[in-house]
Amino acid sequence: MPDKFYVTTPIYYVNDKPHIGHAYTTILADVLSRFHRELGDRVFFLTGLDEHGQKVQQAAEKRGLSPQDHCNDLAPRFTDLWKKLEISNDDFIRTTEERHKKIVQAVLQKVYDSGDIYQKEYEGLYSVSEERFITEKEAESGQFREIKKIQEKNWFFKMSKYQDRLIRYIEEHEGFIRPESRKNEMLGFLRQPLADLCISRPKTRLSWGIEIPFDRDYVTYVWFDALINYITAPGYLSDDKKFKTWWPASVHLIGKDILTTHSIYWTTMLFSLELPLPETIFAHGWWLVGESKMSKSLGNVINPLDLIEQHGVDAVRYYLMSEMILGQDSNFTLENFIKRYNSDLANDFGNLLNRVSGLIGKYFESVVPEAGTPTPADEMIIAQGRALGEKVQSLLKNYKVDAAINEIMNLIRAVNKYMEVQAPWKLAKTDLPSAGRVLYTATEALRLSAVLLRAVMPEKAQRVLEILGAQNSGLNWGGLKSGTKLEAHPPLFPRIEIEKS
Ligand code: MSP
Repeated sequence: MPDKFYVTTPIYYVNDKPHIGHAYTTILADVLSRFHRELGDRVFFLTGLDEHGQKVQQAAEKRGLSPQDHCNDLAPRFTDLWKKLEISNDDFIRTTEERHKKIVQAVLQKVYDSGDIYQKEYEGLYSVSEERFITEKEAESGQFREIKKIQEKNWFFKMSKYQDRLIRYIEEHEGFIRPESRKNEMLGFLRQPLADLCISRPKTRLSWGIEIPFDRDYVTYVWFDALINYITAPGYLSDDKKFKTWWPASVHLIGKDILTTHSIYWTTMLFSLELPLPETIFAHGWWLVGESKMSKSLGNVINPLDLIEQHGVDAVRYYLMSEMILGQDSNFTLENFIKRYNSDLANDFGNLLNRVSGLIGKYFESVVPEAGTPTPADEMIIAQGRALGEKVQSLLKNYKVDAAINEIMNLIRAVNKYMEVQAPWKLAKTDLPSAGRVLYTATEALRLSAVLLRAVMPEKAQRVLEILGAQNSGLNWGGLKSGTKLEAHPPLFPRIEIEKS
């Protein structure tokens, strides 16, 4: 039975203009999904949009639209971008969909019936921009905008009840919160007493939300609503069989900015529902521009569409996945982008394709030669190729996507060196079968790399496999068939020349 892999991204605020940060998490989920599919696992990949809350209501009012029309108008900014970025999600959830609203209400009722929701009068500081109550200390930090003092009756979720259980759970489950530094951050946070979570907003203040089923004067707090998307989509309380297949999620991929909501709010909600917790919550770092996080309010966002337009989807996906060490922050610069493209894609990967197809064209009429009997030098490449699938698999288990890509590129680099030393263009003059053997070995290693790189560069790697007539080949050595006619092709990764001013 193949393994199952259920991966989620955060559901993005519909009001935001998608930038490289949003694209990063979504591409990461896509790359992991594609790798798992390539390795034979069953995959469910979920992404979507977070559409309730004050900011959406206000933005809609400003435009003179109903909030729903406003959301419907904005949603394609994300769905269109995901299409362009070759995102292969299995479901796309919007929190304004009936299927989701129903489940949020059922969850609220369930948690209420179990005694974990109560009402109380509350006075506190409220940040409109963050849409949550904040502490005095947070207010003083200067990180919150539009702070108001608010006194009102609200509904609360008994989060504090689960504090000790959560601490024990985190300590006992290696790899639950990753990376390790984030786990320690959360355990640190949990050393302070945990307050209960305010999960309602009076309709008099905010109407754009899901109505609380046991008190029609209130709507649900946007985070309580949003987190539930992870169980709505795989069929919680609507499709038992589907839900059993997919839940618990293998991994919630998130940025480090939303670690608390996932590892504390969400986990305690799941405890209350008596559902198992996700296997992993992985908080990746931020894409920075200079010293600052990329964000709309700072006006320093990199628009993924511009990059795609100029350099192609696969180059953008490749850069984002190989450049960021998963878990750490990374700096986005166009210069680094071009450097990595030229060295890895134009010089290493693209060049190997051009060389083997050029030489097979010249000496073998573009027909893949016989593999022959391997020499010790060939054996080295064959061994590296044979081991690659497993190496990549074990790196991915630990979410080391950048290292997995580097491992694939190491094979490509080794083959380029092997070509230099073996010099099949010289061999061809005196010993054609040996030249053929070298070219077979090099092309087969290229094919294997392309099979694995297809997760990262679905278009270009697929194109390489088409050129080699090996679209449906797998990860075993020998998938390239001698006698196959190679397709003619222009260079797939032309160098980017930097204009000198
Ligand atoms: N709607 C909530 C999430 C609810 S999940 C149940 C939200 N949305 S968001 O639109 O603000 O998106 C946040 C996510 O976008 C981050 O967690 C991260 O995955 C991604 N990124 C946004 N800016 C980013 C960077 N500058 N760098 C990397 N990723 C960042 O929060």
